[in-house]
Amino acid sequence: MVGVASTAPAQPVAAHLLGWDCIEFWVGNARTTAGFLTSTFGFRCTAYAGPETGVRTKASYVLEQGDIRFVVSGALSAESPIAEHVHRHGDGVHDLAWLVDDARAAHAAAVARGARDVRSPWVESDEHGDLELAQVGAYGDTVHTFVNRARYGGSVLQPGYRTDDLPNPTGGPDTGLQAIDHVVGNVEQGRLDDWLHYYSDILGFSELLHFDDSQIRTEYSALVSTVVWDGARIVMPLNEPADGLRKSQIQEYIENYDGPGVQHIALRTDNIVASVAALRERGVRFMRVPDTYYDDAKERLAGFDLPWDALQRASILADRDHDGYLLQIFTETITDRPAVFFEIIERHGAQGFGEGNFKALFEAIERDQARRGNL
Ligand code: FE2
Repeated sequence: MVGVASTAPAQPVAAHLLGWDCIEFWVGNARTTAGFLTSTFGFRCTAYAGPETGVRTKASYVLEQGDIRFVVSGALSAESPIAEHVHRHGDGVHDLAWLVDDARAAHAAAVARGARDVRSPWVESDEHGDLELAQVGAYGDTVHTFVNRARYGGSVLQPGYRTDDLPNPTGGPDTGLQAIDHVVGNVEQGRLDDWLHYYSDILGFSELLHFDDSQIRTEYSALVSTVVWDGARIVMPLNEPADGLRKSQIQEYIENYDGPGVQHIALRTDNIVASVAALRERGVRFMRVPDTYYDDAKERLAGFDLPWDALQRASILADRDHDGYLLQIFTETITDRPAVFFEIIERHGAQGFGEGNFKALFEAIERDQARRGNL
C-alpha cells in the first residue's frame, strides 16, 4: 500500500475534498453522446483526447457549462474496460471524480479504512506540470478518482487533451445550468447500511438526511433513501429498493443497469423556468406531470408566492422543507436502457431533494388513472 508519512495524522478523505472535479460517462459512442449533450443540454465541448492526440485507449470529450464538467469516453477496442462496462451496463456513469488537496493522502486514508483500492496514486505530466491521481471504488462498477491539480497549471482536464480543432462544435447558447447539485446512486436491496458505512466510516462523509420507506412510498412503489455529504459541496443521496405492491423503481433500475450505479445527476440553475424552456426548445424531453399534481402542490406550498401557471405549463415540480422550497424537474432517461436521467433544480433555502414529490407525483398519476377508469 502506498501510505502517507507515518508521522502525519491521517485525515479522513472528506477532509481532503475540495468539490467535484468531473463526472465521466462511459458510453458506446462518445462522439454522438457528446454531440447530444452539446446540442440538447447546451454544454460546450472544451477538449478532446483520442488517437489524434496520442491517446490509444479511449476517445474522450470534455463538456462544460457553468461549474459543471462532464467527460464522455468511448472504447477504441473490444479489450477496453470501457467496452466491458458498456457491454454490461449500457451507457452510464463510471467515475465520480473529486478535486482534492492531496490525492496520495486521500487514497491512503480511504484504503487504510477499508475502501476498495481501484488504482494506486499515479502522476500524469506534460508541459503544464504534474497531475496527481488515485482511485477508490464506489457502488457497483462506479469509481471515485481523487484529482490534485495543485501542481498542474494546464487549463485542460489532463495531459493528452487538446482544446483546438474539436470534433464537436459548440451548439449555441447555454441553458443556464450552473453546478452539480447532487448525484444519486441506486444500491442493492439490503445494502444501504453498508454503503452508508462506506461513505461515513471509511470516507468520512456525514449523513445529511434519511428517509425510510414510510416516507418515500406510494401504494405501489417504495424506496429507502439516505443522503451523505462532505459537509460542503459534495452531496450524494443513496437509494435502495423497498418492497411495495409492485416492483420498486429502484429495483427496476438495478435490473436494467445490471447492478448498482448512478441513477441521476441534478444540475442547478437559478431560473428553472427559463432553463427548462431553453432545454425543451433544444429537444430535451421531460417527465410529464398530470394537472392534478398542482392541486395538491398548491396546498403543500401554501404561503410561498410561486408562478404556478408557468410551473404547471412547464411540468415543474415544487417541494418544501423547514428551510424553504425547491423547484425541480426530471428528464426522461438519456440512456437506451431506462437507467440514467438528469434533474434540473432551483433552490430557495430548501436542502431536501423533493421527497414530498415522490408520493405526490405518483398519487397524481393514480388520480389521473382513476379518472380514466383504469385503476
Ligand atoms: Fe435528485
